[in-house]
Formats: sequence, C-alpha cells, structure tokens
Amino acid sequence: MKKCLLISLISLAMISCSQSLQVASPDGGLTLRFEQTSSGGIAYSVSRGDKMIIAPSPLGFETKEVSLCDSFEITGTEHSSYDDTWETVWGEEREIRDHHNTMTVHLRHVSGMLMDIEFRVFDDGVAWRYHFKGQGDQETNTKLTITEELTSYRFTQGAEAWSIPWRTEYYEGLWQKRTIKGQSDQEPSTKDTLCSPVTLEFEDGTYGFLHEAALTDYPAQNFHVSDGAVRTYLTPWMNAQENNAKSTKEIKAYIETPFETPWRFVVLTKTLPELVASRIMLNLNEPCAIEDPSWIKPTKFMGIWWGMHIKTMTWEQGPNHGATTPNMERYMRFAKEHGIGAVLAEGWNKGWEDWKHFDFTTPYSDWDMDYLTHLSDSLGVQIVGHNETGGNAADYEAQLDSIYRYHADHGIHVIKTGYVAPIIRTKDGLQWNKGQSGVRHYRKVIETAARYHIAIDNHEPVMPTGLQRTYPNLMTQEGVRGQEWNAWSADGGSPCEHVTVLPYTRILAGPVDYTPGVFHFENPVIPTTRVHATLMNQLGLFVCFYSPLQMACDLPEHYMEHPEAFRFIEHVPCDWERSILLDGKIGDYCIFARQERGSSKWYIGGITDENAREVSIPLSFLNDQTANYKTTLYLDADDADWQSKPYAYTIDRMNVTSADTLHLRMAPGGGFAAEIIPF
Ligand code: NOJ
Repeated sequence: MKKCLLISLISLAMISCSQSLQVASPDGGLTLRFEQTSSGGIAYSVSRGDKMIIAPSPLGFETKEVSLCDSFEITGTEHSSYDDTWETVWGEEREIRDHHNTMTVHLRHVSGMLMDIEFRVFDDGVAWRYHFKGQGDQETNTKLTITEELTSYRFTQGAEAWSIPWRTEYYEGLWQKRTIKGQSDQEPSTKDTLCSPVTLEFEDGTYGFLHEAALTDYPAQNFHVSDGAVRTYLTPWMNAQENNAKSTKEIKAYIETPFETPWRFVVLTKTLPELVASRIMLNLNEPCAIEDPSWIKPTKFMGIWWGMHIKTMTWEQGPNHGATTPNMERYMRFAKEHGIGAVLAEGWNKGWEDWKHFDFTTPYSDWDMDYLTHLSDSLGVQIVGHNETGGNAADYEAQLDSIYRYHADHGIHVIKTGYVAPIIRTKDGLQWNKGQSGVRHYRKVIETAARYHIAIDNHEPVMPTGLQRTYPNLMTQEGVRGQEWNAWSADGGSPCEHVTVLPYTRILAGPVDYTPGVFHFENPVIPTTRVHATLMNQLGLFVCFYSPLQMACDLPEHYMEHPEAFRFIEHVPCDWERSILLDGKIGDYCIFARQERGSSKWYIGGITDENAREVSIPLSFLNDQTANYKTTLYLDADDADWQSKPYAYTIDRMNVTSADTLHLRMAPGGGFAAEIIPF
C-alpha cells in the first residue's frame, strides 16, 4: 500500500497518452484518459476542455494474495458508444436517456491476473468498474481477499464537501460542509473518514457528486482524504475497532473470479440543477429484472407510527398499544376518505417487549389479521406490513420465504423492514450492515420479496446505489436523519437547514423515506424537542423529497386541525413524468417543480432554512405554452415563523400561463406548495 501511494504521489512518470487510451463524452465536453506509471501502475485523469478536473489518480487493489497496484501490462483497448432511452417503472421522470461512450482497457498483471477496467463517459460525468477475469489465458477461477481498493480522486481544485462520517449510525446524521483541498496540497484536510456519497461545490463554482452504483456483492465504499487525494476506504468485513482509514490489513471483501465490482462514478456539472438531474447512477444499474413489474404501484401512506415516536402509543401490547384492530380500522377509513392508498402498522406482531425476538407471522391478540385483510380489500386501502428485525438479519433471512408467503397470503404487498442495531447479525456473524455480508443480505431480501410481489421500504439500509432500476420493488429507503428525530432527539430536533441539504446529498442516492407532513408541533411528552418548520415547509417537502412510497406521517386528528392545508397532501402525487430543480442552494433552500406522471398537472414545492426568502419562479417550464392553468398556492402567512407562528398560512387561487412569474415569500423555517392544473 505504502509503495502504491508513493507511486501515485510522484506520478511524474506517466507514459504519454495515445488517442486509444482516452474516451470523451458524447458532447465532447469531458475526456477521461487512462494513464500508466513507468512501473506499470494504473491511473486515470479527467478534463473538461483544456482544464484538468481530476489529475492522474491511482486505480487498483491490495489483496492478501497479490498486490494489484503496479506491474500491469495493457493487452488491448476497445471503444464503443451507446445511446438508448428507457422507461422507468416509477420515478422522478418517465424516460431516461443513457448516452455514453465506453473504453475498456484490458490488463494483464505480472502475477497472471487478467483484469479489465470499463470506463464510461457521459456528458455529465464519468464512471468505471473493474472486471476481475481470472488467472492466465484460461481465465482460471481465482479467489481473492481484498484488503483495500486503491481507487482515488485527485481533484485539481479545492471544494466544499457535504458529507457525514462513515460510522454515523444508519447514516442518520446532519450533513456537514468540510473543506477539501486541491491535489497540490499534501496535508490531510479532513481527519474523518466519510460515507459515500459526497457532494462537492468546487472553488470555480461547478459541482460534483461522488458515489457508487449497483452495489450488490461488495462492501459499501467510504472515503478518506489524504496526501492530496480523496481515497477509497471499503467497509471492513469484520467490525473494526478503530476508525483508522490507513489500516490496510483488514479484510474488506471476498471475491471469486469472474467478478465485477460496483461502478465508481463522479457526476461533474456546471450547475446545481444539472447535478440534481443527472441519471448516471440509474443508467449504471442493470435493467429491470422483474418480468412484469405492473404490480408495483407508487402510493402515499399513513401509519400507526408517529404516535410511538411522540410516545403517546406503544409498539408492544398494553394500555396504549398502537396497532390494535379498532385503531387500524380508524386509520384505514380515514385514508379511504382522503384518498391515501395505504396504511402502515408497526407493533402488530409479537416480539416488541425486548426488540430481539420478533415473530413475523404471529399478531398480538388485539390485532385481527383476517378482519383487517378483508377490510383492506373492501376499502381498497393497502396494509403496509412491518418487519423490525432488531438487527438479526440472519434469523430473518432464514425465515424469509415463510414470512413473505404469510404477508402475500394476507394481501400485504408492501413491507417496511427495519434493522435497529448498529452492528447486525448476518450469516457471517456480527457485521457492519454496509459490509459485504450486509449488502448480500439486503439484496436477498429484495429478490425474495420480488418473487412474492412485495415491495420494500428498507429502514436502516445500506446507502442506496440505484438498485431500484433492476428491482423496482425496492421502492424507498431510510438512511437519513428523518422526521422521527424531531419527535425525540435529545438535541431538540433537526435544525431548519437539514431539509435544505438532503435534496442535494442523500436524496441524489435514491428515494428517501423521510416521512414528511407533521401538522402539530407541540408534544407534551417531550416538550424540548420539536419540528423546526412551518406547516407550509411540511407541504413543500412532499415535492422536494422524492419517494414513490411517500408517508404522510402525522395522526389523523392532527391533519383535521388544518383540513384546508391537508388538501395538498390529498392531491400531491408521488410518481412523476418530469422533475426540475428550479432554484436552490445547498443548505439554504430548494425549489422543485414536478409533473404528475400521465397527466398535465404540475406541483411546485419550496423549502428554506432558518432564513426567510423571497423567490421568483418563472413558469416557462409548463409544457403547454398556450394553456391557462388554475393554480392553488399554499403560502406562509406574512407573520409566519417556525418558532413563533408555524401554523400561519394562506391559500391563494389564481390563473396563470407559462409566461407568468410567481413571486413568493418563505418564512424562517418555511416553505410553500403549489398545484397547477390546466383548463
Ligand atoms: C426505526 C425506524 O426508522 C422507525 O421508522 C421505526 O418506527 C422504528 N425503527 C421501529 O422499527
């Protein structure tokens, strides 16, 4: 490892790069070059026009068996182009174009190991993955124990990097801005090892997003910053005691050739709307593996849930038990009346007394599964099942088929899974959930669920990497400091800024089950903690935060305190034809417009941090330039403020055309929502 680092530092001896060792994006804007050191080390660089963005940066691996960092010989290269448009089963838009150029570099290591690196260059970024092919010309099957991946990123300029430390439990942290210095600076600029993804605001005003795609049988990547480069730190196989990114002898992954790693990718755009619009991650995942995915339907849902977090209900059976038959019936009838498609129930099954020994197929005695199944059928309101494992993935996995058969037999086709335990028990013993063994477990759950026509809302997940393209029954995931923290967090709840960071960081990795829509901010049980938002900010989240399973998380009685505002939640869809970030700044504010899938209605949502903000929104994005649109605006009142007057709002109705511009104000901690319908 030391030797490889040294080589990358003194990357003076790069061989000159012939045309065949480079590949440009379809629009010619970005160029990736494959480079080699004089000792056969492998590296790449990226330029935009004449300007280098990523200086020559090392690639390769350390394994227990062999060091794959230098002594490579290039045995050939292949180039190709690809341009196709595919249709999403659900998503932020119906159609996605996958347009890229590919260069595959065939390599032979001195040990005899054959490895290809496949590079793809898109107009908005670059990606690559390693194909381990085996040993010698026969490509003999070989087992390798990976101790580190050497993939690095030597950005030529400094950046503000939005990230969370890699050991943040369940990724439920506040994203922070850290300064990363350019490659010329040899000092480590941040001591933390960071989770993937990282969002970058470069010194020259451009943007970057560093993440991985198609993580299915490998540890999740993390990053540490040292010696002028952002370097990969794979999640260890075992529970490492030290957060020591330089420890190289930890086992990270067991692989057997032929083997393909997940994709590594960097989105590189000039503007924030372009960064948000990038679909590189989805394009790098395999097409849908479910032959007929028509049973997978986006829906809003409510749930017997918030009551447990504000501690007025309990998961376990007792006087305040939440998931009782009458309570579920009340929620389901309310959902029916208000056009909400499904209701989640947590605490319906035995095992909540110790959170360790869950029984996934035996209800508590006050939950009548057969009655509720029939009610669900007759009302047309789905039940969202809940399987909290307490982190015992091994036990859950052993029973998966019988658990999912039980749910399918009771007409339950969405399950929220949970893994509350920082270290989970997998088939391979205690492991990080984002280590290789955890990654395999989650994939097995998704594949099994697909066989039973069950969609998954994965809590305490591995950071999403776009697998929902292949398995669209993986509909949403947590992996975020969600709304529940505003019920009980000892720090008083998430600051207003938090929600204005997520659309540019966590949510770029995939749909999020944040659970928006709190309508009642006082909690007598935990009076020191609250939602730092106005009611209109809570509405704005339904458009700014994307999830095809979108929860309206509050209690029915709280929604009835503001029935006019609740109408927006009744109307707003969660499956989109098109999505556009109209305006925003990371950590300050966010304004999204989205067109409902299969309709010409548009929805706009805005959210701001602790600062009030006036915004102008040209409506030129409306498709029909000649139409008139009936618009309902849900706005913070002039004196609204998340601390003193969170409920103050107004509803304005007006007719607009695409030539109009809306001038709106968001209160401190506020936001807005709009419904725009052509007539
Ligand atoms: C943590 C999840 O994030 C939350 O939504 C759930 O209610 C509890 N675990 C119990 O499973």
